[in-house]
Amino acid sequence: MIGLMDRKAAADRLRGEPSPPLGGTIAVPGDKSMSHRALIMGGLAEGETGIAGLLEGEDVLHTAAAVQAFGAQVERRGSGDWIVKGAEWASPQGPVDCGNSGTGARLLMGAASGFPIEATFTGDASLSQRPMERVLDPLRQMGARTEGATLPVRISGGSLKGISFVNAKASAQVKSAILLAGLRAEGEVEVFEPAPSRDHSENMLRAFGCELEQEAGSIRLGKHRRLIGTNIDIPGDPSSAAFPLVAALLVPGSDVTVSSVMVNPLRAGLFETLGEMGADLSLANRRTTGGEAVADLRARYSPLKGIEVPASRAPSMIDEYLILAVAAAFASGQSTMHGLAELRVKESDRLSAIVAGLCACGVEARAEGDTLIVQGCGGPPPGGAKVDAHHDHRVAMSFLVLGLAAQAPVETDSARMIATSFPGFTALMRSVGAWIA
Ligand code: S3P
Repeated sequence: MIGLMDRKAAADRLRGEPSPPLGGTIAVPGDKSMSHRALIMGGLAEGETGIAGLLEGEDVLHTAAAVQAFGAQVERRGSGDWIVKGAEWASPQGPVDCGNSGTGARLLMGAASGFPIEATFTGDASLSQRPMERVLDPLRQMGARTEGATLPVRISGGSLKGISFVNAKASAQVKSAILLAGLRAEGEVEVFEPAPSRDHSENMLRAFGCELEQEAGSIRLGKHRRLIGTNIDIPGDPSSAAFPLVAALLVPGSDVTVSSVMVNPLRAGLFETLGEMGADLSLANRRTTGGEAVADLRARYSPLKGIEVPASRAPSMIDEYLILAVAAAFASGQSTMHGLAELRVKESDRLSAIVAGLCACGVEARAEGDTLIVQGCGGPPPGGAKVDAHHDHRVAMSFLVLGLAAQAPVETDSARMIATSFPGFTALMRSVGAWIA
C-alpha cells in the first residue's frame, strides 16, 4: 500500500535561471496541514473516511504509514484519493517514523496519547533536533508518560484527564495535539489562544461530528467527542501556491493563476502582505470546500515596495517568510519582519538560512534578535550563487524562485527535500515557463 516515497525522482541539485515571462493556470498539491489531519482523524473515527486531494508528499506518506501502524486501515485508491477505516489504536510493532515532519510527529503523539498503548516516535536528522517538549509537557499534564525531549520520544498513553492550556507560542501543532489527545480524555479540555493559530483541526473535528465550543481566544471540546467517518476534500496548499505566485510577481511580464487554493484567513498572511507591497494579486471564484475557504489566485508581474510586517501576523504566514524575504529582495526600500523566533526551530534554522542565502545572492540582509531586515535591490538582485538549502524544502524552493528573476542563476546544493511537501514542484514550475533544471 504505502511505500510511495519516490526519492529517485527528486533531483539533488537544481538551478533557477533568469526566465522569460511565466504564464498559465496550474493547480498545486493538496494542503499539507489538512492532509495530516484527515489521515489522523480518519484513523480515529468510526467507519470509513474518504479523502480527495490528499498531498502525496513524503511528510504525509509518513503519517499515512503511522496511522496504519496504529491499527487503522489506509488504502490509496488513486492519485490523491484515499480511504481510511478507523480503529481503536494499538501499540505499533516498531518505531513510528515521522520522517521530516513536525506536524506529523506532534499530532500523532497527541492522538496516540489517548489510548492505553506505548509508542516510540522517530524522525530524520532535522526532526530529531526539533523541540518536542512543547507538546510533551501538556500531554504529561493530561496524564501521558513520556521519555525524551527530542526524538526518539517514547509515549505511554491512556486514562487522560482534562487540561486548560494557554497556547503562548501560537502553535497549531501544540493546540492540535491537545485536542486530539482530549478526544479520549475525561473532563474539560480547553485551549486559550492569545494569538490565533491555523484552525484546520477545529474545522475538521467538527466535520467528523465532534462537538467543539469556540469563543474569541478559546476552544473547548464538547461532551460529544466521538468522530464519525466522513468525506474530506482537500484544496490546494497556500504554502505551496506561494512559490509560483511570487515567481510571477518577480519575473517581468508574467501572469500566473493557481486554481483552488485554500485561503483560510489564518493562512493568508502572505497574500495580505504582498498586497501591501503593491503586488497585483487577485482572488476569484471564492467558495467553500470541506469547511475551508477556497479561491483561484492570479498574480501578475509587479514592482514591489518594502514593508514592515508586524509580529502579530506571524502565525498566519509562519511558513511563508522565506519566500516573502525573496520578494523583499526585489522590492524598493527596506523590509522589516518582526516576531520570527519560531523560524529558528523549523525544518532548519530558517532565519539564519535566509540571511546567509540572500547575502550569497548579493542582497543585504540581517537578523536582529527575532527580526529579519532585508534591503531591497529595487529590481533583480545579482544572484549568481550556490545556496545552502540546509536540507529544508522551503529554503530550496525560495532560492530557486529568486534565481528565476535574478541577474544570474541560483543553484541550491540539495533539492531532494522538496518532495516532503511539494512533489512535482519542478515540473509544475516548468509548465508555466520557469527555467529550473
Ligand atoms: C502546522 C503548524 C505550523 C507550521 C507547520 C504546519 C500545522 O507549525 O509551521 O508547517 O499543520 O499545524 P507550528 O504549530 O509549530 O507553528
